[in-house]
Amino acid sequence: MFERTLAIIKPDGVRSLVIGEIIRRYEQSGLIPIAIRLTQLTKEQAKAFYQVHCNQPFFNDLTSFMSSGPIVVLALEGEGAILRHRDLMGATDPSKAAEGTIRKAFGASIDFNVVHGSDAPETAGKEIEFFFTDSDLYSRTE
Ligand code: CMP
Repeated sequence: MFERTLAIIKPDGVRSLVIGEIIRRYEQSGLIPIAIRLTQLTKEQAKAFYQVHCNQPFFNDLTSFMSSGPIVVLALEGEGAILRHRDLMGATDPSKAAEGTIRKAFGASIDFNVVHGSDAPETAGKEIEFFFTDSDLYSRTE
C-alpha cells in the first residue's frame, strides 16, 4: 500500500551530523521525502506530540530531550512506508536493534535513539499534520 509516514531525526542525530546519512538511507530504500524542516520544539510542543506517552515514567525525560535542540522532521512517501521506515530504524532500544539499522548504527540508548517514526496509518496522519500543512507536502503522485 502506498503510504506516508512521519520521521524525526532527534536532537542526538542532528548533533552527531548524521542528517545526510539518514536521509540517504531513506531515499535508497524508496522512502521519498515530500516535506523536510529543521525546527526546535518547545517543551510544551514535545509534550503535545508525545501525548500518548504522558503516563509513562520516561515522559518527562523524553520531552526534555526532544526539546533540547534542533530536530529534522520529514514526511516520507512510498510503498509500505510505515513498516519500511520502522525496519530501517530498528528496535526502539538500539542495543536490541538489528545490524544495519539506523538505531544500531547511531543510537546510544533507548532514550537517545536518533530517530522517531509513526507506528500506524492513523498516527502517521496525525503526526504529519502536527508539523506540516497540506500545502507543505510535495507528493510525486499528485
Ligand atoms: P520514539 O519512537 O520516539 O517513541 C517514544 C520514545 O520514548 C522512544 O522512541 C524512546 O526514545 C523513548 N523511551 C524511553 N524509554 C522507553 C521505553 N521503556 N519504552 C518505549 N520508549 C521509551
